Amino acid sequence: MITIALTKGRILAETLPLLDAAGIHPNEDINSSRKLVFETNEESVRLLVLRGADVTTYVRHGIADLGVAGKDMLMEYGLTDIYELLDLNIARCRLMTAAPVGQRRIDGKRQRISVASKFTNIARQFYEEKGVNVELIKLYGALELAPIVGLADEIVDVVDTGNTLTANGLEPRELIAHVSSRLIANKAALKVKYELVRHWSDKIGDAVRAQQPAAAGTDRGR
Ligand code: ATP
Ligand code: PRP
Repeated sequence: MITIALTKGRILAETLPLLDAAGIHPNEDINSSRKLVFETNEESVRLLVLRGADVTTYVRHGIADLGVAGKDMLMEYGLTDIYELLDLNIARCRLMTAAPVGQRRIDGKRQRISVASKFTNIARQFYEEKGVNVELIKLYGALELAPIVGLADEIVDVVDTGNTLTANGLEPRELIAHVSSRLIANKAALKVKYELVRHWSDKIGDAVRAQQPAAAGTDRGR
């Protein structure tokens, strides 16, 4: 038996067609079900549907052998006991800093900057490497509100079209990393269940290449 932990939300919407092309079909409609565990047409494959941060935890602890999670989650929560097997080329976006449009850039080497984010580990490392002095404020959503109401000078968040920033009077500042979703594996499972893990990661890899022939393996300039 192999268990695959999926990230719900926008990643799930883009993962299901890949699983379908790989020959994994859930026994019921994941989108309309409240269930968290799904059997599939393959007796040996079971799916879990979780929040992104929790996918890394389930894979790290070996409850799930494979997982699908955003690179942002892997950067934030680390790769202890986890292998990154494949770039799935879905849910592409960028991790960026952002601030109110036109706001004077604070010299963080002389003055402390307050930064709100749900990615506090990523933010800490990014500003530390630049030698900038930050106070980090952990938020769990609607990060764009923080600079508008004066909770923070800047935010660190994922940006795709930039529409959410614009709608809230913010502008992107510095690029931290390009993000897409990755297929990950528990390190022990990769040894103990080598054949099954390899089989399904190869199938999913084939599906990625088949669905995005032009984009697979490239950065599409983002
Ligand atoms: P949670 O519900 O766990 O708090 P969330 O609301 O951020 O997470 P989503 O917005 O579905 O959940 O984001 C899940 C993942 O999708 C992120 O980890 C990131 O990798 C990717 N992602 C987030 N926003 C975008 C976006 N605007 N465009 C493309 N990919 C995105
Ligand atoms: C994500 C992210 C940004 C937005 C960026 O939010 O947190 O707010 O996408 O995308 P854009 O640059 O195309 O506007 P999401 O839509 O997932 O809502 P959330 O607040 O539930 O995370």
